[in-house]
Amino acid sequence: MKRRILLLLILITALPLGAQTIDDRVDALLARMTLEEKIGQLLQFTPGREDLRERVAKTGIGCVFGMGTAADINEMQRIAVEKSRLKIPILFAHDVIHGNRTIFPIPLGIAATWDPPSAELSARIAAREASASGIRWTFSPMVDIARDPRWGRVAEGAGEDPVLGAAMAAAYVRGYQGKDISSPDSILACAKHFAAYGAAEAGRDYNTTDMSEKTLRGIYLPPFKSAVDAGVWTLMTAFNALNGVPATANRHLLVDILRNEWGFRGFVDSDYEAIDEMRNHGTAGTPEEAAIQAITAGVDMDMVDAVYDTLANAVKEGRLPESVIDTSARRILRAKFALGLFERPYGDERREKAEHLAPAHLDAARRIAQKSLVLLKNESSLLPLSKKIGTLALIGPLADSREDMLGSWRAHGKAEEAVSFLEGVRATAGAQTKIVVSDGAAIDDAVAKARTADVVLLVLGEKGDESGEANSRAFLDLPGNQQQLLEAVVATGKPVALIVMAGRPFTITWAAEKVPAILWTWFAGTQGGHAIADVVFGDVNPSGKLPITFPRSVGQIPIYYNHLPTGRPEDLTQRYTSRYIDSPNDPLYPFGHGLSYTTFEYTDLKASSGMQAVTVSANVRNSGKVAGEEVVQLYINDPVASTSRPVRELKGFRRVALAPGETKRVEFTIGRADLAFWHEGGWKFEPGMFRVWVGGLEGKFELK
Ligand code: BGC
Repeated sequence: MKRRILLLLILITALPLGAQTIDDRVDALLARMTLEEKIGQLLQFTPGREDLRERVAKTGIGCVFGMGTAADINEMQRIAVEKSRLKIPILFAHDVIHGNRTIFPIPLGIAATWDPPSAELSARIAAREASASGIRWTFSPMVDIARDPRWGRVAEGAGEDPVLGAAMAAAYVRGYQGKDISSPDSILACAKHFAAYGAAEAGRDYNTTDMSEKTLRGIYLPPFKSAVDAGVWTLMTAFNALNGVPATANRHLLVDILRNEWGFRGFVDSDYEAIDEMRNHGTAGTPEEAAIQAITAGVDMDMVDAVYDTLANAVKEGRLPESVIDTSARRILRAKFALGLFERPYGDERREKAEHLAPAHLDAARRIAQKSLVLLKNESSLLPLSKKIGTLALIGPLADSREDMLGSWRAHGKAEEAVSFLEGVRATAGAQTKIVVSDGAAIDDAVAKARTADVVLLVLGEKGDESGEANSRAFLDLPGNQQQLLEAVVATGKPVALIVMAGRPFTITWAAEKVPAILWTWFAGTQGGHAIADVVFGDVNPSGKLPITFPRSVGQIPIYYNHLPTGRPEDLTQRYTSRYIDSPNDPLYPFGHGLSYTTFEYTDLKASSGMQAVTVSANVRNSGKVAGEEVVQLYINDPVASTSRPVRELKGFRRVALAPGETKRVEFTIGRADLAFWHEGGWKFEPGMFRVWVGGLEGKFELK
């Protein structure tokens, strides 16, 4: 007892008198700041801006983004910390989207792992690498639900499903922010783009969005809510208008939902020049009007366009209360204190050297890439290839590309540090295998090489920088002359495995019919070539599943698995039903699809009934000859409700590893919150009977 009291005394005396909380420190600092200094904290620039250094020294600046090395960052930081009056450090940010120097698969590829721990690990590693350079904020994760593969930015998100999207969103936030945001290797995450950006009409980037509150709440917002619940420190607004109101001044989103309903306490960033763009949306006449609208809606930081400069006059002339500026400056300063930036403003060159491309990071990049690959088709088990093949032809524009392996937003990843598919094959194929290569530019040459081979690996798709922002497509055929190349190579009669690198689905209907094996690899990152070769030669069994529906044609879009029923379901024998006269309704490959080199069998589905929650369980058995991982997916349907409910909704998923012959029982708990839907202004759970599917099995349960 005495010892405990002594310990307590020591502890109390060790605390500095009047120890300050972060909020105390923010208040004390804010009280010393001029209006211009406060506005300085709301501004965010890239290093290219001419007067940047001058501004940093004069008023201080909230954030600079787009810088690379600790040396450069520290040089800029020194101006803030040594030359500016209040020595407020700059928060350095970067688009660290799927890795910093070690590049992981694009987020859509990571989503195809259906493995949140993989997302979390990739983000943790990215945070370690970025923070070493002094980058303490990333503009990631992008959590926009996307149901339209014409939109290039489907590459940056987790696909079409809110439950998978929400799980991935939380995993990224945990990974970036770590257990303690003040730890030197933690960085602020940013859930973007708030909100409904992924629903851009016609899949055209930046286009407008119009949707019901039910779709917004039920489909597009859950990943944002999940990020907020996981403690995300920042959000970024979207470029689009939602139901006529630009997201960047949308009080319904930013005030009613984000702050009031969800209790978000971090800060909100605009997207690139999005505040000034409200003049183009036609909802603001002048930059000042746009700035006032944005800041009063709760957009704390202004990315790049510096329209928040106009706020100084607006305050001085009485058009905006200074308290609004204070609120935003306070939120940004809170984040800087929480990060420990005032104590440790600099990047660490030694740590940077040790962290960037550390062997453990490369190893994780390879393992995660392996899990992200989706085997769409594998007729007569063409894959995996034997390592004893005599001659192998590698054909196609992407067969030996390091650059494209990195996809869009490669942060500080370098092409010369990536492994192309050809390099991966060379490292993995048997020593006696002869490899012939053609980039496919000349179809004759490709055909001649294919003729000499026992097996052809045809590597097609889009270039890495043709996915992501501002890469909308009106057509989803294989680009350029690739369809001709494909048909010419297949016409040789040689066995062809098609490997597609892409940031989105393509309408590969011809290939799906004529090519025996198709492996979808997304953009697999720094170690992509090794990971793809690991799967092609069977060292690793593929286990990725589609996070987005593959349409047969552009005309089917929007096409997504969790659509509502109609009064006239498709019936091919009936004309007046909901169908096309020239195409089936169903997709080429559905959401959740992905094959393995082994087979999995599901048996014994059991669903309990209950009051608050039910359990659903099933056996899954590896019924083939090789070890493999299966993503067990649970879907439900609410057949009768007060509003029409989707034909199927994913409510749970689990990745399980199974040795040949091994069986595991997988159990899910489904509660009321999982089954609630937005209806007439609130979340509503309606008791009753639900249908449930796990694997190919169907059952039902009652939740009262
Ligand atoms: C994109 C954002 C990105 C920002 C900064 C914008 O054009 O929409 O996702 O974070 O640029 O690079």
